[in-house]
Amino acid sequence: MRGNLVVTGASGALAQIFMPAARAAGWRVIAVSRREPPADSPAEDLWLQEDVSTMAGAEAVFARLGEAGVLPDALAHLSGMLLLAGLAQTSEEQYRACMAANLDSAFFMLRAFVKARRRGGGGGAAVFVSSVVADIGVSFHEAVAAAKGGLEALIMAAAATHARDQIHVNGVRSGLMDSPAAAHLLRNERAREMAKQQYPLGEIISPQEVASALLYLLGAEQITGQVLAVDAGFGAVRPLCSV
Ligand SMILES: NC(=O)c1ccc[n+]([C@@H]2O[C@H](COP(=O)([O-])OP(=O)(O)OC[C@H]3O[C@@H](n4cnc5c(N)ncnc54)[C@H](OP(=O)(O)O)[C@@H]3O)[C@@H](O)[C@H]2O)c1
Repeated sequence: MRGNLVVTGASGALAQIFMPAARAAGWRVIAVSRREPPADSPAEDLWLQEDVSTMAGAEAVFARLGEAGVLPDALAHLSGMLLLAGLAQTSEEQYRACMAANLDSAFFMLRAFVKARRRGGGGGAAVFVSSVVADIGVSFHEAVAAAKGGLEALIMAAAATHARDQIHVNGVRSGLMDSPAAAHLLRNERAREMAKQQYPLGEIISPQEVASALLYLLGAEQITGQVLAVDAGFGAVRPLCSV
């Protein structure tokens, strides 16, 4: 076994792809969700029902693991939400929900994870999921851009602080993923084709590719403070336009 891997946002679409891949890679999965476990949740997994967008909820995850005698080795924080709205259309409630899901939850979970790892003697790895909108201006994404930009800054600062504890902190910066959270952006073939055209490789991002990158980073011994773009070229390259 690779170790005990805490996975947040366990009821989400990416988690449904990531958790089987993590099990197959030898991790024991500890699923964390605001929801109850689904009926088909594998018996070997632990399922903890907590809201990790609060400090108390995040702390409770590791307190419960401590009581059960389970030492978490790694964290895959998959909680988050998409909000397609410009500044003027974003209500205070939407803004707060977006920051809670994407940034507060990451901050509180990483804080609780490093405390648990330091109590356990150090070492370990944490990975997060950012978005291309953190790195390049994409219209009508102000709140999620602010939240994911904060997440990427958190990854770098925490990686610096905890390098001496041998705790690796990294992220994957995903483009638009083919998932229910993006269903309104991919609602029909025309919308899907238009979305694809924004990506130099002409593809919407597959959750499998993001899951593989997260698993790679969890096992990488000499990488920390990095955000790996899985974005079909969106942030880095501009193909020549020809007529
Ligand atoms: N879908 C995309 O196109 C896309 C693109 C770039 C980045 N991402 C990022 O990839 C990650 C996974 O996305 P996904 O497509 O799997 O989305 P998803 O299906 O909506 O899953 C995200 C999960 O996050 C948890 N969550 C939502 N709001 C929360 C809150 N306020 N507090 C705590 N947990 C909350 C929920 O899990 P529980 O109900 O189990 O708690 C939810 O199922 C997210 O971080 C997302 O921002 C997605």
